[in-house]
Amino acid sequence: MRSYGWRDLTQGLAGVRPESATWRSLSGSFGGVDNLVALVTGANKGIGKEIARQLADAGLTVYVGSRDAARGERAVEEIGGDARLLVLNVTDDASIADAARQAGTLDILVNNAGISGDDKTPDQEDAGTFRRIYQTNVFGVVAVTNAFLPALRRSAHPRIVNVSSGTGSLTWATDPQSRHWSGRYAAYRSSKTALNALTVFYARTLADDGIKVNALAPGLRRTDLNATAAASGGDPAEAAAGAVWLALLPDDGPTGEFFSWDATPVPW
Ligand SMILES: NC(=O)c1ccc[n+]([C@@H]2O[C@H](COP(=O)([O-])OP(=O)(O)OC[C@H]3O[C@@H](n4cnc5c(N)ncnc54)[C@H](OP(=O)(O)O)[C@@H]3O)[C@@H](O)[C@H]2O)c1
Repeated sequence: MRSYGWRDLTQGLAGVRPESATWRSLSGSFGGVDNLVALVTGANKGIGKEIARQLADAGLTVYVGSRDAARGERAVEEIGGDARLLVLNVTDDASIADAARQAGTLDILVNNAGISGDDKTPDQEDAGTFRRIYQTNVFGVVAVTNAFLPALRRSAHPRIVNVSSGTGSLTWATDPQSRHWSGRYAAYRSSKTALNALTVFYARTLADDGIKVNALAPGLRRTDLNATAAASGGDPAEAAAGAVWLALLPDDGPTGEFFSWDATPVPW
C-alpha cells in the first residue's frame, strides 16, 4: 500500500498551488496515512461517498456511514479498498451509541450527512421543517461528534471536518453583490450557519486535545440534495478532494476555519 504525504493528496486541488500563500502557510508533512481510520457520515451516495472513496484510495480504513444497511453495503462494494459499513443514523441516539461502541481509535470524522428541504424563504417555511433539518444538520453533528470524541482522543492526529455550505455564510448573505444575497433555502442555510458556529466552538474546546475542526464549503455539486444541486454540473469528487485535504491536515495546519473546496478561505 502506498504511503501518501499531505503534498501528494493536495496536488489535485486547483486552488492550492505550490506557489500560493495558502500552500506556503498550510504545507507540512503528515507522515503517511497507513493505519489511519476515518468515518464519513452519509457516505452511501453523493459527496460523502466520494470522500470515502478518496480516503480509501489513499490507503485509509474508511467506515462508510449509512442509515440504511443495504444502501451502505452497495457503496462499500463500489468504493473498494478497506471500506467498511457502519450503520449510522445521525438523528437516532441508539444508532449513534451502537456505532460509537464499535469504534476503537478514530483519526478522522467527516460530518457529511445532511438534508436540505425546499427552496423557501423563512416566511414560507414552517417551524417543523426547520426542526427536521436542524435535527440532521446541527443536532446530529453534535450527537455524533460527542459520541466519537473518546475514539478521536485516542488518535495521534485527530481531525474533524464539518461539511457545511457557502450558502451558510452570513458575510455573503449580507453582501448585495453576492449570489447568496437572498432569503432562499432559509431553513437549510441557517442550519449551516449554526454548524459554522459549532465548528468554531468545537475547535476552541478541543484545541488542547490536538483535535483540529474545520468547516468545508463544497461548492454546488450534482447530487440528490435538492433541486438546485441536482440540476447543477458540479462534480462531487472535486468537493471531496477539499474534505480529504482538511482530513489530512498536518499538525501545524489550521483549526476553527472555513474553507472552500479549493482551499481558499470562506468568510463566516
Ligand atoms: N450538493 C451540493 O451542492 C452541496 C452544497 C453545499 C453543501 N453540501 C453538503 O454536502 C453534504 C452531502 O450532501 P450531498 O450533496 O452529497 O447530498 P446527498 O446526495 O443527498 O447525500 C446526503 C447523504 O446524507 C445522508 N443522510 C441524510 N440524513 C441522514 C441521517 N439522518 N443519518 C445518516 N445519513 C443521513 C443521506 O443518506 P440517505 O441516502 O439514507 O438519504 C446521504 O447519504 C451535506 O451536508 C450537504 O449539506 C452539498
